[in-house]
Amino acid sequence: MNHIIWQEGVLILLDQRKLPLRQERVICKTYEEVAAAIRDMVVRGAPAIGVVAAYGLVMAAAACRESLSDSSLQGMRSMRSYLEDAAQHLKETRPTAVNLVWALERMLDKVMPEDLKIAQVVNVLTEEADLIRQEDLAANKSIGKHGISVLPTVARILTYCNAGALATAGFGTALGVVRAGQAVGKVKMVYACETRPFLQGARLTCWELMEDKIPVTLITDNMVGYLMYKKMLDLVIVGADRITAAGDVANKIGTYSLAVLAKEHQIPFYVAAPLSSFDLSLEKASQIPIEERAAKELSYLGEVQIAPEEVGVFNPSFDITPASLVTAIITEKGLLRHPDREKITTLFKRE
Ligand code: MRU
Repeated sequence: MNHIIWQEGVLILLDQRKLPLRQERVICKTYEEVAAAIRDMVVRGAPAIGVVAAYGLVMAAAACRESLSDSSLQGMRSMRSYLEDAAQHLKETRPTAVNLVWALERMLDKVMPEDLKIAQVVNVLTEEADLIRQEDLAANKSIGKHGISVLPTVARILTYCNAGALATAGFGTALGVVRAGQAVGKVKMVYACETRPFLQGARLTCWELMEDKIPVTLITDNMVGYLMYKKMLDLVIVGADRITAAGDVANKIGTYSLAVLAKEHQIPFYVAAPLSSFDLSLEKASQIPIEERAAKELSYLGEVQIAPEEVGVFNPSFDITPASLVTAIITEKGLLRHPDREKITTLFKRE
């Protein structure tokens, strides 16, 4: 599945809003169009928006180069400031996923060397965006490999939202573990929560798994307790949008409820995420900015209104699962069992 195509300075994105019914593409020719595609959920999922934003910054550099006649030091200064503004614009599209900020900071670092010439910037940034993309794909494959060890021989897995190929550069984090498990014959069934209100589980996870012929059953989010009570699940695996230095995890709204239920039923709760999803700068999980999305996501189902026109709506898009409820974080460097500040600090020091 090639959901992010970078071709001659243009991004061609599979429109995730239209899946599974239609496979349509959205073409982005400017960084502003990339920002709109991220904000409007054409592309979503923490690592995927980082990759796409990185290419957006390449477009910003190309546009700036066209407009700069001055190739002097002054010109390079103007370009840096133009790119910083473009990066800020891209960062503000979705505040919770740290991968977005991480990728853009990494891109901006590349234009800092004093001796860099304007003519080199687009190439340097293209190489870095390609690298971010390749590294994410490799990290997901490695997460998958490490994740096999947490699966029983016959695994019935619950997953949430879409932490699959569509949400990353490819292969997926939580679904990366599923894919790796399927390859060794361990996956009996994946239960996909529909994931109200945007339905990433029903629309995207089910589609992705069915494309790969991995057994999947769709359930509504409020059925999870019943499945656990009926002993139909062996483990839960979800992705992450931001993980603090203490191991607390921001992920799609509803993740926390699953973790509490899993604890009550003594079912292991795993988070699969690359190191780029960690944010060691925050002291407390309460400092993570939680995106609130439009009221219409709740009061409408597609084009159909399902709630009174003027009803008050609260629509936080993410919640926080404390580290104490996480059995392990599966990273590309291995498993962090019962994650805490000490283990996370040690891992990052080593890397
Ligand atoms: O609002 P979304 O669809 O971008 O939210 C996505 C999630 O919450 C994913 O679980 C997370 O980004 C991890 S994707 C590998």
